[in-house]
Amino acid sequence: MSDTVQQIKEKLDLAVFLKPYLQLVPAGKNFKARCPFHQEKSASFIVSPEKQVWHCFGCNTGGDILSFVMKYENIEFLEALKILAEKAGVDLQRFGNSDQKKFNILYDINQAAVKFFQEALRHAQGKQVMDYLIQRGLKPETISDFEIGFAPDSFDALLQYLIKSRFSTADIERAGLIFKSQRGNYIDRFRNRVMFPLRNAFGKVVGFTGRILPGAAPQGGASLAQDGRETPKYVNSPETQIFNKSKILFGFDKTKSAIRDSKSAVLVEGQMDLIMAWQDGIQNIIATSGTALTVDHLKAIRRIADNLIVAFDQDEAGQAATEKAIDMADAMDFSTKVMMLKPELANQNLKDPADIAKAHPGALAVMLQESQPSMIYYFSRYLSKPKIAKQDLRAVLVKIKNIYSPVEKSKWLKELANKTKVDEKSLIEEMEVLQDSGPSGVAEENNSPQAQSLPRKDLLSQRIISLVVARKDLFSAKGGSASGGKIEEVSSTLTPAYQKVLSYLNGEVGVELPAQHKTVADLLSLRVSVDASTDEEKIRDEAKELLRQLQLENYKDQRLILKSAIEQAENAGDEIKLAVALSEFDKISKQIQTLNNQAKT
Ligand code: UTP
Ligand code: MN
Repeated sequence: MSDTVQQIKEKLDLAVFLKPYLQLVPAGKNFKARCPFHQEKSASFIVSPEKQVWHCFGCNTGGDILSFVMKYENIEFLEALKILAEKAGVDLQRFGNSDQKKFNILYDINQAAVKFFQEALRHAQGKQVMDYLIQRGLKPETISDFEIGFAPDSFDALLQYLIKSRFSTADIERAGLIFKSQRGNYIDRFRNRVMFPLRNAFGKVVGFTGRILPGAAPQGGASLAQDGRETPKYVNSPETQIFNKSKILFGFDKTKSAIRDSKSAVLVEGQMDLIMAWQDGIQNIIATSGTALTVDHLKAIRRIADNLIVAFDQDEAGQAATEKAIDMADAMDFSTKVMMLKPELANQNLKDPADIAKAHPGALAVMLQESQPSMIYYFSRYLSKPKIAKQDLRAVLVKIKNIYSPVEKSKWLKELANKTKVDEKSLIEEMEVLQDSGPSGVAEENNSPQAQSLPRKDLLSQRIISLVVARKDLFSAKGGSASGGKIEEVSSTLTPAYQKVLSYLNGEVGVELPAQHKTVADLLSLRVSVDASTDEEKIRDEAKELLRQLQLENYKDQRLILKSAIEQAENAGDEIKLAVALSEFDKISKQIQTLNNQAKT
């Protein structure tokens, strides 16, 4: 296995591979870019072609080509490996162990099933299905673009076909396409249904969703599902090694480039909504499939888009889902909007985007253009009655509290104050005591970039070390850098461990680092190469500020220690010790004062 990984890595260059994903800017012998894993304005994501690793100094994550693909595409190890192997032209089947073979075969089975379902749509039984699809407004080219098919009304037509194609029953079952009936024989999971292939972000089919045909399940349920309940409208493949419902977004393989280009994604509930809207010219669109929206879905979108437009069904269930989607998206720093039905289209029984696209081609584009910010949606949902009830006001305050960006928060508090004539200060007070009812999962998942960061002192230390090593000339005694500090001065503000890292990176002979510090040093050397190309004045200014902040942190630490020394001396009644500690405390407080004042000038 590790051989295969090695082989793949040798064939692929990380920087070349990353180009379509990121805007890489050369920085010395490395590249830098804005990190795709957290929101940032400056570039702290660094790629080293030499070491074939990436690291983000903003959110403190990093790794190799494999971990990048896993993280970026939200996929598991074997899946990432498969994608990279294909790119590298490495045959996983040949190298792989049986685990990988078992994994690969799932893709092959799903692909074979696509062919089978498409074929069935062209045959006699499929004629009616084709008519149904056309009647729903689909054009033949859309049907073939999405490779829509038909699962015949048979217990095992697919199973027989796949066995003839030399797949084993065990593998077909693992792919989720058949299951064991109560009588103990295998039968097709999808029977007499319109079939929509579900693809991962790379366009590989990982499962299916099958829609019931009109008239196929008469009232009272002549056809019963496995568990004896009435047949559901849509049946989905179960989760498998390659199909994770909470990660797959229907249509994403086709729409991600339009989403990336427009920085904006339209989110709909169903695959028919997506396909009909796509046919109607909306290309930056995605749908969940067979599951509620998850944080993972949104993360995949957030990496390439800043705006999310929620265009769910018009019914009450759709509106409840809209509220959940907005809350998740607002908490993840999306600029979230809601598509509203045009008033002139009300009373036409248009329940979802698919209906709208069919009845009024072109109308969706206009409605998307006119979609409203999520908070305006909430204002009209909760605050449109003439007299505003306290619980409605609180409901809106909770929504505002949930917004990620403080700037946005304050903007909407102002709007709310305007609208309700309650002064902003009271609104803020009220808001602060309210429990956030944020969607579960968002807060715990550490979406805030700070959550993953190192302690402040480490960040400051690493940053200044990098600057000093990058431009030794500016910090040496001869460099005459009175303002930026000399190497010795910098070094004296660092902990012994970081002092060693600095010496090591400066090439001092005989410096031995423990493994843990060696890793830090290696990462820092990436950063050094970026700083080396930074402008001299900038470096001096930054170093000066860093030094000030580091000294400040050190003094604060010392003051804390003194504080407990004072308490101890007091308790022990040791007056001499107390006097010494108090005078030290005083001295340090003054130093802190001075450093704070320096910031203000
Ligand atoms: P809808 O009931 O709105 O279906 O469910 P739809 O997309 O409008 O279907 P059409 O237009 O009647 O063909 C929205 C989505 O919820 C999932 C499907 O992904 C569906 O597209 N769903 C719905 C299921 O997974 N199972 C179901 O039984 C129903
Ligand atoms: Mn619908």
